[in-house]
Parts: sequence; C-alpha cells; structure tokens
Amino acid sequence: MTTELRVGTLRGDVPGQEALVAAHRFNRHTFWCGQSGSGKTYALGVVLEQLLLHTRLPLLILDPNADFVRLGETRDDVEPDVAASWEQLDVRVLRPAAEGDDRLAVRFVDLDVRSKAAVLRLDPLLDAEEYNVLLHLEEVFGTNDQRQLAAFLHDSPEPGHRTLLRRLENLGVLDWDLWAWGGRSVEDVIDERPRATVLDLGGFKNPAEPHVAALAVLDHLWATRHERRPVLIVIDEAHNLCSPTPVTPVEVALTERIVQIAAEGRKYGLWLLLSTQRPSKIHPNALSQCDNLGLMKMSSPRDLADLADHFGYAPADLLAHAARFRQGEALFAGGFVPDASLVQVGSRLTHEGGSDVHVPL
Ligand SMILES: Nc1ncnc2c1ncn2[C@@H]1O[C@H](COP(=O)(O)OP(=O)(O)O)[C@@H](O)[C@H]1O
Ligand SMILES: [Mg+2]
Repeated sequence: MTTELRVGTLRGDVPGQEALVAAHRFNRHTFWCGQSGSGKTYALGVVLEQLLLHTRLPLLILDPNADFVRLGETRDDVEPDVAASWEQLDVRVLRPAAEGDDRLAVRFVDLDVRSKAAVLRLDPLLDAEEYNVLLHLEEVFGTNDQRQLAAFLHDSPEPGHRTLLRRLENLGVLDWDLWAWGGRSVEDVIDERPRATVLDLGGFKNPAEPHVAALAVLDHLWATRHERRPVLIVIDEAHNLCSPTPVTPVEVALTERIVQIAAEGRKYGLWLLLSTQRPSKIHPNALSQCDNLGLMKMSSPRDLADLADHFGYAPADLLAHAARFRQGEALFAGGFVPDASLVQVGSRLTHEGGSDVHVPL
C-alpha cells in the first residue's frame, strides 16, 4: 500500500489538482534547495507535518535557526481532528538553554573516541601519547560520575591524565554548555524513539558546540545502525554541517559521518533530508546520493546548471522555471513523485519558529 502525502496543488492545466508525494520513498535521501527566503524551511515543514500525520517514521531534525521549535503546536485554524491527532504525537524539542529533560546535552566521556579526539584536536599519530591516553580514558574512568572527570584527571598519578586536563582547560572545552556531565544526553532521548526530535542548534556560545551535538547524535545512530530502526535525519541549512571544505577537526568528522550515512545508511534505515541554498555548498559525495529533489526559487544560472548536472531526473525545462518561482512554488522530482512537477506548496499546520526580521517603518 502506498501512502501519499498531500503537499499542495499542482501548477498546470487542471486547477486545484492535488500534489502528492509518496511517503514510502523517503527511504532514499532527499535534497532540498532554494535561495535564502525562497520558502525551503516552510515547505520542509509542510512535508514533515504530513510525514508525522500519515506515517510512523521518526524524525530527527537538526535545526540551526530554531525554525521547528514549535512543531508540536498546531495553528488555531487547523481541523479539530488534526489538532486532536497532533496532541497524541510525541514531539520533543531539545534546546541549549532549557531546563531538565528539554536541555540539549551530550556526555563527553560517551562520545566516540574519534569525536573526542576531534574536540581536543588530537591526531592519532602526531599526538600519539595523548591520543592513547584518550583511547583508554573510558576504561580507566569507568562508570564514575562524569562531573568528577576534571578532578579525576587532576588527582590521577598518571602524568598523561594531567596533560589531557590541561588540553581540556586550554581549549575551554570544560566550559561548554553542551556537556551533560552525569545528566541525560540527547542519545538517551533518541533511543526512546519519539516521533519527532527537534534539536535547536542555535544559542550555544562556542561555534563548535552545535557541531559536536550533531556529531554525537549521528555517531550514535551510526553505531546502532544494525538495529535497522528507520529514522529520517533532517538537516536544515545543511552547509553548516556538511560542507565540501570542512575546516576544523570536528567539521571534518561531521562531514565524513554525513557522507558515510549518505553512502551506506540507506540499507540501515538512516535516511537524510538535506536542505541548503546552493548545491555547491554541500559535499558532492552527499549530494550525489540524493534520489529526491525539492527545489524552490533559484535565480543563479550556475546553480541551476549544477542541479541539472547532479539530478539528471529533473527535466531541464522544469528546472528553468525555478528562476521565476514565487514564494511557495517548488519543483519536485525524483523517486518520491510519479512525475517531475511544479507545485504550489500547501499551508502549514504548525507554527513556524523563527520568523523573518522586518524593516522598521
Ligand atoms: N508557502 C508559503 N506560504 C506562506 N508563507 C511562506 C511560504 N513559504 C515561505 N513563506 C514565508 O516566507 C518567509 C521565508 O521562508 P523560509 O521558509 O524561511 O525561507 P528559507 O528557508 O528558504 O530561507 C517566511 O517568513 C515564511 O513564513
Ligand atoms: Mg530556512
């Protein structure tokens, strides 16, 4: 049985004809593209709402601009039965500054060793001694209260532990708000399989913190991939996390992880939806794995040519329309639609989080 998601109306000869997207084809990766302000996030919200209503697929949303923090709240004008179904949905929103269970936090000691090394800018060969101390940290520290990590390293008779502590202190890593220490970590939340988990990645002080938060969850999903529990990993403004030219060790690790999920995640149920402004801002090895395309307004001929190169299934004559799209107009192509088509995206059911800043008049 196929479930069709109602995402808007088709532009064409028959007015009001419904635009349908096949829910089961989100078992492929999806690329979502359009220049800034073209309505990517709005349209993404429309599709995610339909997935929440009509499938049981869990969503993990990496949200750099707090655009989805109100995904759990329906608008006043939605049908009462939709509002009632929404009440039943388990939507979690984790935010940096929140209290208790809603806080977005990660346990340092539980990070994958390569990710810990990336945070500490340690190379396995160039910094062999220190890397080795890190490699064995988990086994010597054991199940101690993670809040005691600094004290443990400080009091340890092993000189390597004090070197590691100095590195943590010098890089300011111990001061990050991201750390859960002994508390609940985002991986624990994901393991409970909520229908939607929104990670608000804005609002951290250190620019590496949102990257490490994303890395922690993606590492965890990868480490548990053999459980084959499907999840749609939605990354808005994905160029922040999967650039073709990552710079810091954390950015490199994150990009590698996303590229790996793009290449090999599909058979484990790890499906990506990457949204960004230009195709050239995403690592080509992730881009080339996307079988579905949602395109909003795009004026740049160069970007359109790039898209035509990568997405042979998007007809050139339809791509050409994208330069003149108005807000809410989109081209859908690839496996999730029967035919590539131009669509007027429907209305949101839930509130948008972040909103445009207006010119003071
Ligand atoms: N289909 C639509 N219907 C109504 N408003 C829309 C629609 N698409 C976008 N908007 C509005 O336009 C603005 C920019 O849209 P947004 O989705 O944030 O763009 P992008 O993510 O591409 O930068 C937002 O204020 C949003 O509410
Ligand atoms: Mg946006």
